[in-house]
Amino acid sequence: MPELSPHVRNAAANQIREITQAAWAQPDSIVLSIGEPGFPTPPHILEAAQATLERDETGYTPNAGITPLRAAFAERVGRHHGINVSPGRAFVTAGAQQGLHLAMSMLLDAGDEILIPNPGYPTFAMTARLLHAEPVEYPLYPEHDFQPRIADIEALITDRTRVLLLNSPSNPLGAVFSAGLVRELVELARRRDLWIISDECYEAFTYDVPHVSPLAYDGDSGAGSGAGARADGGERVIVSVTLSKTYGLTGLRIGALITPSGLETQMSTVMESIVSCVASPSQYAALAALTGPQDYVSAAAAHYRANRDAASAVLDAKESPISRHRGFLSLGRPVPRFAGQRAGLGAAIPCGPGRGSCTGHGLWLDRRGLDPHRPVRRPR
Ligand SMILES: Cc1ncc(COP(=O)(O)O)c(C=O)c1O
Repeated sequence: MPELSPHVRNAAANQIREITQAAWAQPDSIVLSIGEPGFPTPPHILEAAQATLERDETGYTPNAGITPLRAAFAERVGRHHGINVSPGRAFVTAGAQQGLHLAMSMLLDAGDEILIPNPGYPTFAMTARLLHAEPVEYPLYPEHDFQPRIADIEALITDRTRVLLLNSPSNPLGAVFSAGLVRELVELARRRDLWIISDECYEAFTYDVPHVSPLAYDGDSGAGSGAGARADGGERVIVSVTLSKTYGLTGLRIGALITPSGLETQMSTVMESIVSCVASPSQYAALAALTGPQDYVSAAAAHYRANRDAASAVLDAKESPISRHRGFLSLGRPVPRFAGQRAGLGAAIPCGPGRGSCTGHGLWLDRRGLDPHRPVRRPR
C-alpha cells in the first residue's frame, strides 16, 4: 500500500473514543467518557424523521440546509441572545464536529495558528492539524474559575494567529464565561483582527448563570448587550450549535453554524466539498425538535443539574471545594494523581504533561453495586 499523508499517519487518536470503545466492550460498565444523553428521544422528533422517509424525501437538500430549519436555528439563537439573526446566517451541519471542521476550513490556511483552550475538547487541536494549521493552547486555571485570561491569550498572539476558539459552557470543565469576559474577548478579537469560533454545544445547560455568546457583542456597533433586539449582520464571530446534547440526538448528526452575513456562497462551496448536505431525515427531525414542545430540554437540564449537585457534594466532602461548575453535563476537576492511569474502579483519565493539562478525558465506572436509574445507550 502506498504511504498515507504524513499529517494523517501521525495524527493522534481521540482518547475519548479509545476509552469509550474499551468501556463499550464491558457490558457492566456505565460509560461516562462520551457525552451521550440517555433519555429517550421525544416521539414527535422520531415521527418527523420517519415521515421524511415515508414521503421518500431522500434527495439532496441545499448545501446550507432546508429553509425552515435555517430559519428555526436563526430564530432560536437570536431569541436566546436578544439579537436579530437572519435565516441566511444559519448553515445546517452534520453536528458540531462537522461544523467546527467547516468553520476552520473557511478560516485557516496551512501554518496559521488557532488559539484553543487547555484543558479543552480534544478535536479542537485534531481538526486544526488535519487542516495543516497549528493549534496553540491558552491555559485555563482552577483558581480563575477556568475562565480564560485576556493577558494569557494576548501573549500567545502572533502574526500567524487567525482564530480564537471559545467553548462556554466548557467541556470538560463546566466553566461558563461571564458577560464581561465575553465582551472583552470580542474586543480583543476586534483589536487583533481575529476570528472567533464559539463552540456552544452546551448552551442549554447552565446553572444559576446565563449563557452569554460572543455573538451578542459582534458587529460594527460592538454595543450588543443581549438586551433588546438589534439588527446586525455580525462581523467576526462564528457560532457552532448542535442538537446532539440539547435534544439528545447524537446519532442524527445535526447542528448549525451561525456566521456573519454575506458568506453564503463560500460556505455552500466548502460544505459541498465536505459533505454536500446533511441527511434529510435528520434535518426534519431537527426542525421538529426546535419548533415542537421543549419539555425534553428542561427535563434534561434539571437532571444534569441534580447530578452536578450530587457529584459536587461527594467531591467537595473529599477534597477542598473548588469553583462550582456552572454548566455542561459533567464535572471537570484537576485530578493529577490519576493522570494516565486506569484506576481500581475503572476510572481512566488520560492527561497530557504539565499542570492542569488535559487533552483527553474520560471515566467509566463498574455498574455492579450501583443502582442505575436509566439504561445506557450503546451502539449495536
Ligand atoms: C465541546 C464539544 N464540541 C463539539 C462536540 C461534538 O458534538 P457533535 O456530536 O454535535 O458533533 C462535542 C461532543 O461531545 C463537544 O463536547
